[in-house]
Amino acid sequence: MRGSRRFSQANEEIRTVLITGANGFIASHIIEQLLTTTNYNVRASVRNIQDTSKVAHLVTFPNAQRRLRLFEADILDEGAFDNAMKDVQVVFHVAAPYFLTVDNPYRELIEPSETGTFNVLTSAIKSGRVHTVVLTSSMRAIADRPREKEYTEDDWNNESNLKRNPYFYSKVKAERSAWDFYERSIRLMGVAPFRLVTINPAMVIGPSHTKKMNQSARVLFDIIKGEIPVQVNLSFWLVDVRDVAKAHILAAQNPYASGRYICASKTLSMVEIISLLKQRFPDYKYPWSLTIPNVAAKIVSSMRNPAGYVSYVKTNVGKGAYKFNNNKIRNELGLEFRAVEESLWDQAADFIRWGHMPDKLSNDWAYRVPAAIKDADVARAYGWGFNNFVDDDSDKDIG
Ligand SMILES: NC(=O)c1ccc[n+]([C@@H]2O[C@H](COP(=O)([O-])OP(=O)(O)OC[C@H]3O[C@@H](n4cnc5c(N)ncnc54)[C@H](OP(=O)(O)O)[C@@H]3O)[C@@H](O)[C@H]2O)c1
Repeated sequence: MRGSRRFSQANEEIRTVLITGANGFIASHIIEQLLTTTNYNVRASVRNIQDTSKVAHLVTFPNAQRRLRLFEADILDEGAFDNAMKDVQVVFHVAAPYFLTVDNPYRELIEPSETGTFNVLTSAIKSGRVHTVVLTSSMRAIADRPREKEYTEDDWNNESNLKRNPYFYSKVKAERSAWDFYERSIRLMGVAPFRLVTINPAMVIGPSHTKKMNQSARVLFDIIKGEIPVQVNLSFWLVDVRDVAKAHILAAQNPYASGRYICASKTLSMVEIISLLKQRFPDYKYPWSLTIPNVAAKIVSSMRNPAGYVSYVKTNVGKGAYKFNNNKIRNELGLEFRAVEESLWDQAADFIRWGHMPDKLSNDWAYRVPAAIKDADVARAYGWGFNNFVDDDSDKDIG
């Protein structure tokens, strides 16, 4: 089976890891967990190290001063990771464009996803030290829409294309190109260059480390704010960002982890999501309590929403609930998913925390807000955190 072959590294010790797309929603949680639950040194790549609105939170994480190094790299630049991958044992390749609405799907989604994957895997091979690559794929590489069947890791999304849900298509192409690259390397080298594992998350929700609203958060936000005017027959497979982060780390730490892992906790309909949110956040707008017929939903979506949403609504509305089997990740990696209610409520509270919506919470439920980043923390972090990664022995003094 793919990914289960013996690879060339006899020893899976982990001292230093590298993570791409470090400022993103999921990667930030992976970094926070790496810094708080392991003793690894963390090399984190961002596109623009000067953009403090994107990277300041990273350097305020516990233990960041000693164990986190930021560096600038674009996944599209060949060789951009060669230097930073020296003496790295594990690579988490998380970076990829994540937009539902684009003008040119090939240029903006498919090409960067494939090229980025190729560049990162090539650097990993060249390093000769990387024993594990954990790639963030997606449930969208598994399925485009709900079907009667229960989805498993054996399924591939063969329906999306450049016109139909192009973001989903980019996840298929990126993951397929990773496995193809991997198989080719095995044929050429006679042995697997490293262990390749993919984590395939469903729609990721939960608190964010930054104010930037992620694409998946945007969907929930549009529901709470009533931007989506009426209830629609859509189902959403959901997973908490903190569980997704944990899954990545467990996959890196477990030498027997191999292949793909469905990382999804539960499917809820739009009506169920609204009902759960209203339990804790009753005083927001929400869509009308009327589920409109599927044909009407398609028409309304084409009038109100940008192209990416239209394609999604057209292909998913009225198709029933997503069914999936998450036994592999629970049994092999020991991942336990948190209750989806908790994730939804934490996500909504996070919208208030970041000022996206007013605080209308009743006093009987207090959200445990993660410690806010203070200006002083960022200023202090400036003194040490924003140094480009350089090819020196810096690991020796941060280990
Ligand atoms: N959120 C979900 O519901 C979900 C579900 C399944 C899978 N995923 C996958 O999880 C990964 C992370 O997603 P996310 O939700 O954390 O999204 P995100 O917050 O938008 O993060 C994406 C990251 O990728 C970086 N990136 C994009 N293009 C890049 C390039 N050319 N060079 C370097 N970095 C680049 C972004 O950097 P900039 O900030 O500089 O643009 C950002 O750091 C993606 O692969 C996504 O497809 C997400």
